[in-house]
Amino acid sequence: MRSGKPLLDTALGMRQERPPIWIMRQAGRYLPEYREVREKAGSFLDLCYSPALATEVTLQPLRRFDLDAAILFSDILVIPHALGQNVRFAPGEGPILDPIDENSLATLKPEKALDNLDKVLEALDRIKLALGENKTLIGFCGAPWTVATYMIGGRGSPDQAAARLFALEHPETFAALIDILVEVSAQYLVAQFRAGADMVQIFESWALNLDEDAFRSHVIEPNRRIVERVRSFIPDAPITGFPRGAAGMLAEYAEKTKVSVLGLDFATPLAFASSNLPKTLPVQGNLDPLRLVAGGKQMEDRAEEIIEGFSDRPHIFNLGHGIVPQTPIAHVSRLVDIVHGR
Ligand code: CP3
Repeated sequence: MRSGKPLLDTALGMRQERPPIWIMRQAGRYLPEYREVREKAGSFLDLCYSPALATEVTLQPLRRFDLDAAILFSDILVIPHALGQNVRFAPGEGPILDPIDENSLATLKPEKALDNLDKVLEALDRIKLALGENKTLIGFCGAPWTVATYMIGGRGSPDQAAARLFALEHPETFAALIDILVEVSAQYLVAQFRAGADMVQIFESWALNLDEDAFRSHVIEPNRRIVERVRSFIPDAPITGFPRGAAGMLAEYAEKTKVSVLGLDFATPLAFASSNLPKTLPVQGNLDPLRLVAGGKQMEDRAEEIIEGFSDRPHIFNLGHGIVPQTPIAHVSRLVDIVHGR
């Protein structure tokens, strides 16, 4: 049954003549109107927890560009924050957390987490009311492994060594942390659907740097459990999995987790995706964000190549990772026009 929302329909398996488009991190610092609200809000977390301001920045990119979806403005690190971990965003440094260890895991408060996120859910209510009928509303959370890398390491790192080592040296504590994150994330996604999200995305941004056993236990199994748990409340809930860097594990991830849509990073070759993924599986992606910064013919040619490469299956156009702050606004307008066939 058609929903009247091209992007949601695509996620449900209905191929469109031209792919619908949204852009990961579409509300962000490349927009002057975002930077203005961000300054007014005080801290980044204040912005995430202000329903009025979070609604405003969620809608900003849709005023400028003919995008097919809005994504809730929030962050994957509101979960550790809601669990009681100290999280802050230092300007120019990214997120900083007081690292979790074997002893401090017990101080997390999973039973309080959802209450602490009620302002985020309130923003979804408001966004839903303001959003055009044919626009899809996307909710999200971070995947347990990706969130755990920040909780254990205390900040982003190029190789997630702290979390990888912690999982090997303290397997029981690590498993207990993943269990907490699976349950809280599933409850959070269910609450997002109930507050008006049409679909959700699980961001597994650090699915790289794992051997196959670690990939199965840290990435596939927790993602699978979240999908299963959410669908025990909302059968057939449309869920996108974005295991960035999954490479050779991509097909197994899709098969075992049963995500509705598979998000592809920009290093995934189009032919590899085509020949290794079931033809009925909707995919999302996968333009290199730096092609959008540089713009011009190389961007246009690659966008068409991606559209052509996935023309035989349901495809949601997106970047292969988040848009970066130095992206020129005119290049985004051009990309949206190309994808819409204009
Ligand atoms: O897509 C959207 O527009 C929705 C909002 C959104 C944000 N973060 C806002 C944000 C989403 C979906 C995220 C997801 C997120 N957050 C991920 C997964 C996606 C990815 O990019 O890999 C990760 C790993 C995080 C954690 C995080 N939050 C980092 C590493 C940083 C610092 C890096 C940076 O870009 O500054 C943030 C901060 C953050 N989250 C900003 C925004 C707009 C910038 C902070 C600011 O405005 O000062």
